[in-house]
Amino acid sequence: MTPSPSPQTRSFALRSKRRLIAATVLLQAVVIGLGCLATIHMARNGLTQRVHEQVREEAARRAMEFSALLGREVDGPVRPDTPAWERAQQLLATSQPPGGTLLLLDPYGALLCHPALEANPGLRRVNYAEQRVHLLPGNAHMELGQLRPLTPLVGEGDFLGGSAVLGLVYNPDTQTKVMVLHPDTGLAAEARRMGNALLLWMALGGAGILVMTILGSALLVRRYDSILIRANQKLEEELQRRVKRSLAIRNGLIFGLAKLADYRDTDTGKHLERICKYSEMLADALRGEFSEITRGWIELLKLAASMHDIGKVGIADAILLKPGAFTPEERRLMELHPLIGADTLVQIRQRVGDDDLLNMGIQITLSHHERWDGKGYPYGLSTEQIPLAARIVALADMYDALTSKRVYKAAMTHEQAREIILKNRGTHFDARIVDAFERIRADFDRERAAMAPRDGEDERPALVTAVEMAEAAKGRKAA
Ligand SMILES: [Fe+2]
Ligand SMILES: [Fe+2]
Repeated sequence: MTPSPSPQTRSFALRSKRRLIAATVLLQAVVIGLGCLATIHMARNGLTQRVHEQVREEAARRAMEFSALLGREVDGPVRPDTPAWERAQQLLATSQPPGGTLLLLDPYGALLCHPALEANPGLRRVNYAEQRVHLLPGNAHMELGQLRPLTPLVGEGDFLGGSAVLGLVYNPDTQTKVMVLHPDTGLAAEARRMGNALLLWMALGGAGILVMTILGSALLVRRYDSILIRANQKLEEELQRRVKRSLAIRNGLIFGLAKLADYRDTDTGKHLERICKYSEMLADALRGEFSEITRGWIELLKLAASMHDIGKVGIADAILLKPGAFTPEERRLMELHPLIGADTLVQIRQRVGDDDLLNMGIQITLSHHERWDGKGYPYGLSTEQIPLAARIVALADMYDALTSKRVYKAAMTHEQAREIILKNRGTHFDARIVDAFERIRADFDRERAAMAPRDGEDERPALVTAVEMAEAAKGRKAA
């Protein structure tokens, strides 16, 4: 089962996701906006230029067509108020280009025919001879009176109605210059109209791109986010696995260290396992009576209890394995084992740093032979001067010692051990712990029976058994 991401991971992911989308969208909006503005500016310039080119081409074409038409319809030069002029004026009236003006000049630039001539006779006096025009392509500036092009010319100039685009062609048969004018204002308006249409399309396109960007960004960020969360989960799982593994190794080493000491003791078989189990059962029964007892505390106690006698490694075999009673000196040496054990653990703590398990191990190792009434050793601590963990292990250790067989004694029954423990209520042991033992005495008896050596199983120290087996093997070889 995949663990769900922790609340911190999720809230961080959500916050960063929203910020990332907002930043992406903002950036995209700025880029798209700037891109649109630049494109519109360039497109408007391009459109204006293109419109001018088209209009110039159109003006030239119309001038050429009208010149050809005039050549066909009129014989000889066109002079004011002649039949040829009348005809030319008629033709001019019906050939006006949309948005522009088609007119006729004489070879020197004076106005001959104009569609508004009838309404405005003053136009007859107009003379464009000195009108300067800018010829395109190129950069030449010429006066209209000087131009006699047989093929159409295009350009720009300032005429009566303002700036205009023109197309001009000279007809030598009629001795006229055909000129088509398109005012610039109309062209600019046309370019603006096309530009506005472009602007609308670009705005719609930009908005569409922005919406797609928002959706795309949201999808990408969501995908990225889920990848990140999965990667974090995997890392967390890996970390937990490694922490578990490290703890298992540490716990195994500690238990192995304790077992090493136990191996030399008169205790046998599952003494350590039983001590740990009894301590756990007592602590569990005492939950609620002592605020420090929590599930985690009990887990520590289960392992720390195994360390209670590691100091016995420092006690000579002659004393440790002695079947009879100790002399006062032997007793003094034997009673050093809590100090040796605690000192060993303190030295380990100096190397690995502060650690709850080591701290509890030191308390238990140092104080598991202290008594509630202050008659214990090594310091003669009393009542609550003795750490709770050590008070619990003291009872567990006593119960196991009484109910286990030794080289020098038989195992007591559960009831016999129970009686001794009850007698020591408030003297050797904390009364509350004895009461807890009494409440769960049936559990103690059951666990004792479950972990007791089987019939015929060797009750002697494993070290003694191992030495005897090695010597027996040597004896068989010699024989
Ligand atoms: Fe001990
Ligand atoms: Fe013990």
